[in-house]
Amino acid sequence: MTEQKATNVTWHDHTVSKEDRLKLNGHKSAVLWFTGLSACGKSTVANTVDHILHEKGIHTFVLDGDNVRMGLNKNLGFSAEDRTENIRRIGEVAKLFCDAGLFVLTAFISPYRVDRDRVREILGEGEFIEVFVNASLETCEARDPKGLYKKARAGEIKGFTGIDDPYEEPENPELTLDADNKGIDELAEEVVAYLDSNGYLSA
Ligand code: ADX
Repeated sequence: MTEQKATNVTWHDHTVSKEDRLKLNGHKSAVLWFTGLSACGKSTVANTVDHILHEKGIHTFVLDGDNVRMGLNKNLGFSAEDRTENIRRIGEVAKLFCDAGLFVLTAFISPYRVDRDRVREILGEGEFIEVFVNASLETCEARDPKGLYKKARAGEIKGFTGIDDPYEEPENPELTLDADNKGIDELAEEVVAYLDSNGYLSA
C-alpha cells in the first residue's frame, strides 16, 4: 500500500454528486480494464469499443499504455516497483474519470494480479470491469508490431513481459476475449454487449 504522506488534508465531497452526473449523461460509468501481453490487442480493442460507444452518444475516454508512459508516468520504467506505481496512478486517474461519469478504457499490460485487484478495491461495486485480452505468447510474438519481442529474445531488452518477466492471468475477469481466434470488431462487440446486457448503457 502506498503511504499517505501529506498530513492536514481533508476530503471534500463534491456539490454535484456522481448520481447527478450519471443522470445528466443518461448512462452509468465504469472502468473497463483491459489487461494482457504486449501486442495482444488491448489498445486496438479498447479504441474500437471507444468508437462504438462514442457513436452511441456515450461519454468515454481511453487511457493507453505507451501514451501515459510519455506523460504522467514518464518517470517510471519496467521494474516490478515501477509497474506497480504505473498501475496505481492509472487506477487513481481512471477512478477520477469514472467519478466524472465516463466509461474509462485502460490498456496496460498490468501484469500483476495484486495491482489490478487494488484498482478494483478503490472503485465501487460494478465499476471495475476486468477484460482479459487472451492472446498466446506465440500470437503476440508473431505479430510483434514494435519489434520488441525480437529485441527481448536477442537480450537487447531485459525483463520483457512474457519472455523474462511474469504475466499473471486474471482469475475471475468479468470478460475474457479470445484474441487468438477472433477479430478486433467481434471482440469489441462482445465488450459492448456485456455493457448493454448488464445495464451500463442506461441511467
Ligand atoms: S505495465 O507492465 O506497466 O502495465 P505498460 O502497459 O504501461 O506496462 O507498457 C507496456 C508497453 O511498454 C509495451 O506494449 C511495450 O511497447 C513497452 N515496453 C517497453 N519495455 C517493456 C518491458 N520490459 N516489458 C513490457 N513492455 C515493455
